[in-house]
Amino acid sequence: MEKNPVIETILKRKSMRAYEKKAVEPQVRAELLNATLRAPTAGNLMLYSIVEVTDQRIKNKLVKTCDNQPFIARAPLVWLFLADYQRWFDYFIASGVESLCAEKQVPMRKPEEGDLFLACCDALIAAQTAVIAADSLGLGSCYIGDIMENYEAQRDLFDLPKYVFPICLLCFGYPTRQQKEREQTSRFQDKFILFENQYKRLTAEEFDEMFREEHAQVFHDRQEVLGARNVGQLIYTRKFGADFSKEMSRSVRLIMKTWMED
Ligand SMILES: Cc1cc2nc3c(=O)[nH]c(=O)nc-3n(C[C@H](O)[C@H](O)[C@H](O)COP(=O)(O)O)c2cc1C
Repeated sequence: MEKNPVIETILKRKSMRAYEKKAVEPQVRAELLNATLRAPTAGNLMLYSIVEVTDQRIKNKLVKTCDNQPFIARAPLVWLFLADYQRWFDYFIASGVESLCAEKQVPMRKPEEGDLFLACCDALIAAQTAVIAADSLGLGSCYIGDIMENYEAQRDLFDLPKYVFPICLLCFGYPTRQQKEREQTSRFQDKFILFENQYKRLTAEEFDEMFREEHAQVFHDRQEVLGARNVGQLIYTRKFGADFSKEMSRSVRLIMKTWMED
């Protein structure tokens, strides 16, 4: 099959966490933004907003509010992706939807859980479109999921209203040579990920196979360093059961409570 440049870009991509001290040129940024905003969006409503963080003091604060990740402060371009129903809700009010509902004698709906998840889908799809577009422009990128932690701090930092959910942060920059040469991460075999027609829970034997494979070597290396008995214990300790995961859940619970309260 002929080489497909889009597939090539996708297959070669890696998260890049160290950047050259070089600004992203305005025309490159414009191209990136243009591509990002072409992402599919539910109902063509664009249920998201992007905040470009240009203030170094805010970047420095993000290092701390996003679980101490210093490379955020060194990223030349930082975009915060927000799931956003505030804009549409404000427009509904501005358009007289309240009186429309009163005339029809029906209560006016407010954004609820389904709307929140749909807006999160929109924001994440735009973010991933940005990731691929960035790569094709020679820019490296890295997601920061920890933006979902410390809601109170992020809300105050960015003046976030009720129906706005900080779903992810993206750091962009021209990657250093070391980052470009770094090995790609591995993935699980597709048979553990893609099922036919119905969901399939994995057996103990299948888990053994999943983590015996060479592609899981990176986990095993870390497991030896940490003395965990298996990869499940390692990931539980380092990720799922770790303090940052607990903080993220507390923070997201608060965001959802804020979103849902009258
Ligand atoms: C939702 C999401 C959140 C992430 N959060 C972080 C983060 O906070 N810090 C970080 O260094 N990498 C973060 N990453 C990057 C992942 O660690 C990375 O994608 C994964 O290790 C696979 O490596 P690759 O992107 O190089 O293929 C995140 C990725 C995703 C999709």
